[in-house]
Amino acid sequence: MTEKDFLTSEYSSSKKTGKFRWKSPSNIALVKYWGKKKNQVPANPSLSFTLDTCTTDTSLSYQKLEKKVSKFSFDLLFEGKSKNDFRPKIETFLHRIETYLPFLREYHFSIETSNSFPHSSGIASSASGMSALALCLMSMERELVPDMNSDFFNKKASFLARLGSGSACRSIQGPLVQWGNHSTIEGSSDFYGIEYPYKVHDIFKNFQDTILLVDEGQKQVSSTVGHDLMHGHPFAEQRFGQAHMHLCDFQTILEDGSLKDFIKIVESEALTLHAMMMTSHPYFILMKPNTLKIINKIWAFRETSKTNLCFSLDAGANVHVLYPENEKETVYKFIKSELLQFCQHGKHICDRTGLGAREN
Ligand code: PMV
Repeated sequence: MTEKDFLTSEYSSSKKTGKFRWKSPSNIALVKYWGKKKNQVPANPSLSFTLDTCTTDTSLSYQKLEKKVSKFSFDLLFEGKSKNDFRPKIETFLHRIETYLPFLREYHFSIETSNSFPHSSGIASSASGMSALALCLMSMERELVPDMNSDFFNKKASFLARLGSGSACRSIQGPLVQWGNHSTIEGSSDFYGIEYPYKVHDIFKNFQDTILLVDEGQKQVSSTVGHDLMHGHPFAEQRFGQAHMHLCDFQTILEDGSLKDFIKIVESEALTLHAMMMTSHPYFILMKPNTLKIINKIWAFRETSKTNLCFSLDAGANVHVLYPENEKETVYKFIKSELLQFCQHGKHICDRTGLGAREN
């Protein structure tokens, strides 16, 4: 499907008022998306685990206006309070998607949104937040186009979410979502995420992700700035090539359930993301001393315990500890006794892979 397939001509029906509510999860990339082209097209394909516990719950009420407005009409409550800081992001999002949802200027919207995780925890809420809002808007469009099938609904929801925040397009479905053209992945697209289409070994079912909150607070580098740093980056082309290769490798790993090889790629991807930031202009170090302490502890424990835990990182200092469900008891015991000391006030979130967004 191309961008044109998501354009809508006239709607046959119309609605005056209504309300939809979606709960959408965050995701953790195994192959990272870092660098983009125009219109939120990724510079390389990526793959992620959809999470289960870290979610955004968004409701959207709409009322038809007397006539079309020149400025989008909406009010916004975040955790019960009006939040003006979020308005520009939503306005940009609405501008980007209005070609694909031509009814947007005909309604007033009341958006109420809250996260299951603390806002200032350093966990990016853009993936869960943008996907939840995109899904509410798609529910609205489905009312106007009653014969829309669920495959189109999911693809367009992912397509719209991507225009809000790239990684958000990987939060519609689960537990494994791939986004970005890749020569050996059938159905892959730069425009939306798809459920990983090949066989996945049972060891990856209900995979655990314990998120260690090493550094709470605003991100030091926004992802918009971060992606931009890949333009003219001396290692950009090699990095993009590596992501393609890692996706090829994953095909066998996911099918065979080879945890050793899984660990090698997941950790290499996390460190490469940070290496890209350390070698861009300007350069950044987003890990904190405690991030490194945690990584070293994980490596040492893996060696002695022969368990299969590994780490992943987003564009910040927090650490995602990933491990199979059958090692949960041993690994969580280790996390509690050895790793929580490096988290701010011992804060952490026990998450696992999930099946994607749900309508409430
Ligand atoms: O969706 P964005 O633009 O916030 O980018 C997210 C990038 C990473 O989280 C660092 C990697 C990824 O693939 O999720």
